[in-house]
Amino acid sequence: MSKEIKILGFAGSLRRNSFNKAALRAAQELMPDGARLEIFDLAPIPFFNEDLEAQGVPPAVTEFRSSIASADALLLVTPEYNYSIPPVLKNALDWASRGADSPLQGKPAAIMSASTGMFGGIRAQYHLRQVCVRLNLQLLNRPEVFIANAATKFDQEGRLSDEPTREVIRKLLSALVENAGKAKLDKGE
Ligand SMILES: Cc1cc2nc3c(=O)[nH]c(=O)nc-3n(C[C@H](O)[C@H](O)[C@H](O)COP(=O)(O)O)c2cc1C
Repeated sequence: MSKEIKILGFAGSLRRNSFNKAALRAAQELMPDGARLEIFDLAPIPFFNEDLEAQGVPPAVTEFRSSIASADALLLVTPEYNYSIPPVLKNALDWASRGADSPLQGKPAAIMSASTGMFGGIRAQYHLRQVCVRLNLQLLNRPEVFIANAATKFDQEGRLSDEPTREVIRKLLSALVENAGKAKLDKGE
């Protein structure tokens, strides 16, 4: 029995200098005491195909599903592609959603988004929220974290330098950790 809260975070961008991946690293720094954030790289997850699934779930997907299962909560960080979520993120969620034993069922979760545009990925977040209903994730409503004009919020090394954004991420993480702690208690863990 562990009292530490483990959050699993993943970002829907494969780009080396991704602002969303940088936001996830910032969240790692900003975690409250007694909780840690582990980052899962979605790059090795193949494109979903039921034929592939029937042949045996690929190792990267098995690893992803078991990392979700062993986490107390999830942090989903999404870019906005054409007003929606990028295929990398949707694909990973599709794999994780499969079967009655989907590790997503009932899991506490929160969303952040970063975009170079002035709306910070708001439209992608609301699409993602709709998907999360189907996945039966227990999504945090507030605070909402939209990192707009992302190129101005991170320094050359990819560190989140904007203090108001750091503060709202702190608040999001603390609310998520609280939800995760309550869910753990409910399960008697
Ligand atoms: C295919 C594509 C579509 C995009 N569509 C949007 C969009 O609808 N809204 C938006 O705010 N930014 C859009 N962008 C810009 C992204 O917000 C920007 O590229 C961002 O840096 C991507 O996230 P990343 O830095 O984590 O890779 C788009 C980028 C790409 C590559």
